[in-house]
Amino acid sequence: MNLILLGPPGAGKGTQAQYLIEKYGIPQISTGDMLRAAVKDGTPMGLKAKACMDSGNLVPDEVVIGIVRERLQKDDCSQGFILDGFPRTVPQADALSETLQQLNKKIDAAIALTVDIEALVERLAGRRTCSACGAGYHLLYDPPRESGVCTKCGATLIQRDDDKEETVRNRMQVYAQQTLPLVEYYINVGILHEIAGMDSIETVRSNIEAALRNNP
Ligand code: AP5
Ligand code: MG
Repeated sequence: MNLILLGPPGAGKGTQAQYLIEKYGIPQISTGDMLRAAVKDGTPMGLKAKACMDSGNLVPDEVVIGIVRERLQKDDCSQGFILDGFPRTVPQADALSETLQQLNKKIDAAIALTVDIEALVERLAGRRTCSACGAGYHLLYDPPRESGVCTKCGATLIQRDDDKEETVRNRMQVYAQQTLPLVEYYINVGILHEIAGMDSIETVRSNIEAALRNNP
């Protein structure tokens, strides 16, 4: 199963990807996580990406297209993959389709999580992420067993640099201008499923699973 998760910042793409990894045994390809790892490691790509990410703007298309193209060719993608946060612009979607054609693959479904933008600011303010394994939590909606400590691996939980309210608002605007057109794009391809992302994490999960069960 080859999937795309679409949705604004805080919509729940990363949260739902964790369930899909377990259910289908396929890897998550999160461009955000890959870019954050590059920033942490201080690679040349990370240094370039940092300023864009800190301001809530997008990293240039050619950078992300390059890292996804390389990632899709790894062995663990042979049974499928979950694209989280990519594509994010029409040129990225076109490049993805071209790459998949070359690899003799196609996207089976694009899941768009629809959410109330104002509620997302609160969601992102309460988000905490594990500094070691990357597991995601929410102080109210999905708290760790022990405050500040990852339930899965015991490492410290941190807040993402781009989750400050002002940066979040810019990320929302960037989403509306550059990424929202992809909903129409994948409707036209005939593979889009819109799922209400404001329901509980469990309900969103079962609605995604139902949509994928009925996916032609
Ligand atoms: P990226 O890391 O992809 O961030 P994003 O798209 O802004 O999305 P988030 O990760 O913030 O949200 P999410 O939908 O994963 O929500 P989550 O599940 O964590 O990108 C970061 C930056 O990298 C970009 O700004 C850009 O600079 C760059 N970048 C990345 N990809 C790029 C690309 N393709 N092109 C160019 N630049 C790129 O959930 C959020 C919180 O809510 C959590 O605390 C969670 O526990 C909670 N939650 C989730 N679901 C629910 C629910 N149903 N009810 C209650 N709480 C919930
Ligand atoms: Mg995410």
